[in-house]
Order: sequence, then structure tokens, then C-alpha cells
Amino acid sequence: MEILGIDIGGSGIKASLVDTSTGSLLSERYRIPTPEDTSPHKILARVHEVVKHYSWSGPIGITLPEPVRNGVVLSTYNIDSSWLDADASTLFEEITDCPVTVVNDADAAGIAEIRFGEGRNHKGLVIVLTVGTGIGSALFMNGVLVPNTELGHIEINGISARVRASEKTRVEEGLKRSKWAKRLELVLSSYEKLFHPDLFIISGGLSNKADKTFPYIDIKTPLVPARFLNNAGIVGAALCAEDQFNNKVV
Ligand code: BGC
Repeated sequence: MEILGIDIGGSGIKASLVDTSTGSLLSERYRIPTPEDTSPHKILARVHEVVKHYSWSGPIGITLPEPVRNGVVLSTYNIDSSWLDADASTLFEEITDCPVTVVNDADAAGIAEIRFGEGRNHKGLVIVLTVGTGIGSALFMNGVLVPNTELGHIEINGISARVRASEKTRVEEGLKRSKWAKRLELVLSSYEKLFHPDLFIISGGLSNKADKTFPYIDIKTPLVPARFLNNAGIVGAALCAEDQFNNKVV
């Protein structure tokens, strides 16, 4: 099935048509900056622009950098507070006139990796982390997602993981990769103590330059970059939309 995946992140809105039988991108990736003002009408206008760019009229999967249950936004750390409790999927359906599924960005990235990427057929506990503007998490036990976990908000020595070790923090504080890696190591080793995972998969901005950062990270659990790199959110959004679309038509 061909589905439009749209990943709304802290700095960019990224989209592509996705082949949901393989997870591969079927078009050029289209990226526009996330507006400074992330009020619903501004984001809706950008999504409308993306849909027009592809002249698309089929199902759409959209991620938000917040937990989302049944299309409803559950918190607003990264987007305007007027999104709180908003039914995002209905809003996006009204502006695009297409069936829309909305999910958390990290859960989407995780689903892409579990279905077609590094987590494929992986038994046990797999933790997928998106390290970019924030730190997002997706937890899978034997391939089944526990949705809307927020491991980036766990405090370690009084500072949340996302404030301590996101890519945004690296840029803002001008940290060298080696120093940033040690902060990530502290975060990952805390997760090891809490969850004892079998595998960490890293998506988001960090995954694009994993070879420059991972060598400095010394932990017990295997650590791999996402196969879909920073496109995992786009692919996962489309996969979630397919799942929902199929349930709807059955
Ligand atoms: C949000 C998560 C999101 C992550 C990555 C965090 O600040 O709370 O829901 O997955 O950022 O965008």
C-alpha cells in the first residue's frame, strides 16, 4: 500500500510517500521548517502544504513530538499548549480531506525499526530512542509496543535525560561529540539499570552521525543506529496509518 508519512519534529516537517510492504520511500523526501509558532492553525497550514505538494488524496500518517492516544494530544512540551487535549487526527482530516492517523514520533520510528529495520524479529525488550530536539522513546516487548512511554523525561541526578543529552543541548552548549557521548552514556546506563533491555536502537538526528558518537559510549547493551536513520518517523507514521486504515475498512 502507498501511504503519505509526515514526521513533525522540533526543527523540520519531513514527508515522503512510503511503500508499506517494505518501508521504502517511494518519492523524494520533502522537508519544510517547523514554524516557530506551533499553534494548531500554523501546523495545519504546513501539513496542508505538504499534502498539496504530493497532490495526495489517500491515507496519511502523521507524527507529533508528544504522546498521542486515539488521535488526542496528551502533553505539550514541544508544541504550543493549545494542542493539549486536541483531537489532532480530526483536525488534520478536516484540513486534508484524507483519513489521518496521528502517533507519537518515537513510537512511529520504533514501529518502522521493529517491522523492517534493526529490531526485526528481535525477541525480548527493545528500546528505540529518538535523539534530536528532545529524547523520545518506544518500548517493544517481543515486538509489541508499549505506547507513549516518555523515557526522555526521566531525571538522572536531578536533570532530565532530554535536557542533559538531546542533540539540541549539544548544539546549544557547543559540546564536543566525545563529551556529549558521555552524557548519552549516563542516560543509557540509567535505562539499563531500570529496564535491562536487550537492544537499544537510536533514531533522530544522532543516528545520521552514529559513527562519530557511538565509539565513545561504553554500555553493556548492544547499541545500533536505526536502519531508517532519521527517516524512521516518516516510515513508521505510514505503517501506523496502514494498520488503522485496514482495521477501519475490515
Ligand atoms: C516528547 C516525546 C517525543 C520526544 C522526541 C519529547 O520531549 O515528550 O513525546 O517523542 O520529545 O520528539
